[in-house]
Amino acid sequence: MADANTDGRPETATDRADGALDEAALKEAGLRLEVAGAVATVTLDRPERRNAMTFATWRGLAAIGRSLPADVRVVVLRGEGPSFSAGIDLGMFSGEGGGFTDGADAEGTDRFIAELQEGYTWLRRPEIVTVAAVHGHAIGAGFQLALACDIRVVADDAEFCMKEPALGLVPDLTGTKPLVEIVGIGRALELCLTARTVRAEEAARIGLAEITVPRDGLDGAVRDLVDALLAVNAGAAVATKRLLWQAPGNSLDEQCAAERREQIGRLRDVFGR
Ligand code: ACO
Repeated sequence: MADANTDGRPETATDRADGALDEAALKEAGLRLEVAGAVATVTLDRPERRNAMTFATWRGLAAIGRSLPADVRVVVLRGEGPSFSAGIDLGMFSGEGGGFTDGADAEGTDRFIAELQEGYTWLRRPEIVTVAAVHGHAIGAGFQLALACDIRVVADDAEFCMKEPALGLVPDLTGTKPLVEIVGIGRALELCLTARTVRAEEAARIGLAEITVPRDGLDGAVRDLVDALLAVNAGAAVATKRLLWQAPGNSLDEQCAAERREQIGRLRDVFGR
């Protein structure tokens, strides 16, 4: 698979050899990063393309994940302009972006997709709580990005759509697992195999939105949530996220053991024993 952006130019690395982020490359990837103390805000910033994402965007997200300062506790993902994200940049299908299959065997394509998935997997790290602030369209890869976050704050104009099957593809940016875990297999099948749109009210009803607010209240609701998240003990937040995320895959016995393990650490930390 060719390594180029939708303009056909070579991808620019978003992280440098010294581990720091290359701001210019991030901008070119359609991303903006602002870090203020314990809060990092990642903005999808190609509003003229409804924040459509390219290979560079996913690599940029992965680079942000790798370079996040250790004292960041909350990461907010948001979209500039009228949409959260219209998903993959459709220019990538036309060959403008080098195409998807140029010269790649199955192993090479597997490696390539795994690299892109890294743009999403870091959002599950227990050291951070990730919040998607979703407004307007969250389509395909954009929907999956919201699903990769721990908590979704959703504006009343939001529209989710898992468009991939309609384009002959499967959702492959880590979205199928959280989707099934959140809405159940039947609803996940219905949503994906019809590629229909889920509006904010339904998203709240089926568990895709933890918080729903009027469009002009989105930023304020996210700020309030971030403040509340930061008010909780940092060590307990990390341990609890780790615990909760493993719960669905554990038996009751395994989960009880995990609770004991985490609590031993907490007791030492809180009471010094
Ligand atoms: N890729 C590239 N360009 C896009 C994309 C996209 N995914 N989505 C929107 N744009 C561009 C449009 O081409 C248009 O460009 P132009 O001004 O040069 O004509 C501009 O963004 C604005 O888009 P409009 O369609 O005019 O905006 P509108 O608000 O009416 O509609 C919507 C927004 C619903 C998102 C529509 O653009 C759309 O359906 N986009 C395609 C969505 C899609 O199929 N994504 C792929 C999903 S599958 C996956 O992600 C793996």
